[in-house]
Amino acid sequence: MAPNSINPLADPVAKPVALEESAFLFSEEAVAELEEIATHYPERKAACLPALWIAQREYGGSLTPAALKEVAERLGISYTEVEGVATFYTMYNLRPRGRHHLEICTCLTCSVSGAYDVVHALEHAMGIHLGETTPDGEFTLSEAECLNYCGAATVVQVGDKYFTNITPQNCISLLDQLRESPSYTPAMLADSLVKLHTPGAGFKGGGSYTPEDLG
Ligand code: FES
Repeated sequence: MAPNSINPLADPVAKPVALEESAFLFSEEAVAELEEIATHYPERKAACLPALWIAQREYGGSLTPAALKEVAERLGISYTEVEGVATFYTMYNLRPRGRHHLEICTCLTCSVSGAYDVVHALEHAMGIHLGETTPDGEFTLSEAECLNYCGAATVVQVGDKYFTNITPQNCISLLDQLRESPSYTPAMLADSLVKLHTPGAGFKGGGSYTPEDLG
């Protein structure tokens, strides 16, 4: 398969992505972060999860086969071991996501509070269904299990931020605000999680925002 023979944004669950030969992409800072994090584990292999977060950030928000290969080589473990971890946890993106990844909680409390009405409003506004990315690459819409903020249902996670008390009405404001934002939220989430693993890194992201904050 030619590397670009499919548009992964339009067809997120299509065919496997070919393993390409490529140069390592970790920056010097990323390598330093990985080495620091690895010192806190009894063996390098145990740093696989934070290493994958570093890779997800360094490779622009998703884990390509080249990213998995770089993690494997930097940790001194096999590609298969890294792939096994990356494919086990749903928070690792094995396909590119839109510039903003909206993960809407449809677990019990959010569900009875109208989460699926929000899903339908977002699907209508974006012209896509759950699991898809808009053709312009702006948004990916996904379902999420409980985001542990049930008192503020319905909750939508976008990158490292929570948006709370979301309704079919105010979710359109959320989309408008995100369109204005220059951020690439899948990489922001990965960066925030790397910072949480790095002692003294000064985590500054995250937070939760209400409909009033959406303006
Ligand atoms: S059920 Fe949605 S945050 Fe818990």
